[in-house]
Amino acid sequence: MIIVANLKMNLVKSDVDQYIEYLVSSGENLESLWIAPQALQIAQFKKDLKSVPIGLQNAGLTEKGSFTGENSLSTAQSYGVEFVILGHSERREVFGESPDEILKKIQTAQAQSMKVIYCVGENLEDRKNNRSYEAISDQLQILTEVKKKNVYIAYEPLWAIGTGLLPSPEDISNMNEHIHNSIGFWMEGLLYGGSVKPENVHSLKKSKHLGGFLVGGASLDPAKLLKLLKSVG
Ligand code: 13P
Repeated sequence: MIIVANLKMNLVKSDVDQYIEYLVSSGENLESLWIAPQALQIAQFKKDLKSVPIGLQNAGLTEKGSFTGENSLSTAQSYGVEFVILGHSERREVFGESPDEILKKIQTAQAQSMKVIYCVGENLEDRKNNRSYEAISDQLQILTEVKKKNVYIAYEPLWAIGTGLLPSPEDISNMNEHIHNSIGFWMEGLLYGGSVKPENVHSLKKSKHLGGFLVGGASLDPAKLLKLLKSVG
C-alpha cells in the first residue's frame, strides 16, 4: 500500500525544513510514501527526500504557453516530478474545474508519461439520495478517453474530507467494487481519501481492493505520517 501526502496549500519554508528533517532523521522506511507539496516546495522535497516520489496537486491544461500562474506538466516532468493529482474535489468545487478540463489534464499528463491520481467522490446530497454510485460513474466517464495506464483512482467522498466523518470499510469495499465493475481492472491502484488518521487506518485498510490512502490533514504532521506509513507497511 502507498500513502500519498496531499499537503494542499500549507507549510512555510521553516515548516518544510522541520518536516523533512523529521522524516529523514527518523530513519524509517519511506518506500511507501509519495508527497504532493505546493509547487514552490517541490525542489526542496526532491533535493532532500531523493527516494520519495514527488507530485503536483494540479496542473495547467496544456504543456506550455501564455497561461500566467499555471504549472506545466512538461516542465514538471523535466524537473523529475513523477505524478499529479487531478480532479480533486477542491479543484472541482472551489475552482469550478469541468470534466472536460480534467480530461485534458489527464491526457497532457499521459503525454508526459506522468502518473495520475484521479480523484472521484460523491457529495453529501448524493449520499443522502442514494446517488453515490451514479455520481462516481458520472465522474469515471472521462476515463473512457484516456490511455489505460499510469492512472490511480482515489475515492474521496466530499463529506469525509476534513470532517472526521468516515465511510465504513464495507462502504469503501463496495465503492471499489463499483469502480472496478465500471471501468475494468486496468488502473494501477485504488486509494481512499477523507479523514484518514493513524487512529482509523487499521480499520480502513480492511477495505477490499485498496492500494493505499490519499491523506490531507494528518499528513501535515510528520509524526502522524510516519504512524500511517508503519500501519500500511
Ligand atoms: P483530509 O485527510 O484532511 O480529510 O483530506 C483528504 C484529502 O482531500 C486528500 O486529498
